Amino acid sequence: MSRLQARIGTLRQLEILLAVYQTGSVTAASKQLFLTQPTVSMQLKKLADAINAPLYDQIGRKLIFTQAGLEVVKTAREVLDCFERLDMNLANLQGLRAGTLRLAVVTTSKYFIPHLLGDFLNHYPDIDVEFKVGNRQQIIDRMATGEDDFYVFSHPPKNRDLDLHEFLPNPLVAIAKTDHPLAGRDNIPLQTFCEEPFLMREAGSGTRHAIERHFDSLEIEPNVRMTIESNEAIKHAVMSGLGVSILSSHTLAFEGSHGLVKLNVTDLPIMTKWYLASLKEKQMSIVARTFMEYVDLHGHESMEIEGII
Ligand code: PGA
Repeated sequence: MSRLQARIGTLRQLEILLAVYQTGSVTAASKQLFLTQPTVSMQLKKLADAINAPLYDQIGRKLIFTQAGLEVVKTAREVLDCFERLDMNLANLQGLRAGTLRLAVVTTSKYFIPHLLGDFLNHYPDIDVEFKVGNRQQIIDRMATGEDDFYVFSHPPKNRDLDLHEFLPNPLVAIAKTDHPLAGRDNIPLQTFCEEPFLMREAGSGTRHAIERHFDSLEIEPNVRMTIESNEAIKHAVMSGLGVSILSSHTLAFEGSHGLVKLNVTDLPIMTKWYLASLKEKQMSIVARTFMEYVDLHGHESMEIEGII
């Protein structure tokens, strides 16, 4: 047993530390763990005493983790991951598929991932799912924590060591309100479309990233009138006549195209694909593997039935 191991109290302390790190506050961590604030503070103090260094500094309301604190966070994650794997391996030995599937997905995929999950969970009712949604940049930032089994992107970052699993097409289509002068016209030149006021997703969005790359490659610039931070808000802005836009066709599924039409524009749609991405350095859990196999075998079929593709 290492000297440190003898001094570090319990796994619970590591769990508390991780919760404080992830939520960014002692209050939020206490709530998440159903503990009182003094208990959380006391356990953190014991942990800091054990490593003989402060875990974080409090600047105003913000907790800034020290280098030592970050090292303990990293190890805590590895230790707790190990136990989670043990749990899943034991469940697997008993022929069970049980445990937690952690997904972090970009906002645009929230239109179809829940349907895929619904079907998956009907088959594996003992699996729990934790599901985070953010724009592309937020999901990339989240990769640093290494917590999730899969990330769903259509534009995975190039600078991370990822296993990529392509599973669905993602056409980005031009939209306008139903009575727009361009509605119903064939082969609208891209240049004509770009002269219309354009409603663009926010910086950090994967949709925006794809649109900018596409237009750059054609050396055309859209006439951006407004930046809007959500697909749904863009749809409403388009419906109300504020302009035109380009969004994933998934945002129009399930009667989501009400008040909108797709425009037939040359050089569009922008054809991209959805990927399940996982960190190469993270060992895939049995639950995660089960999900990936499920997506391979039934993903397409369940989305066809739902009318998503
Ligand atoms: P977004 O991402 O929701 O951030 O636009 C979609 C994507 O990655 O294509």
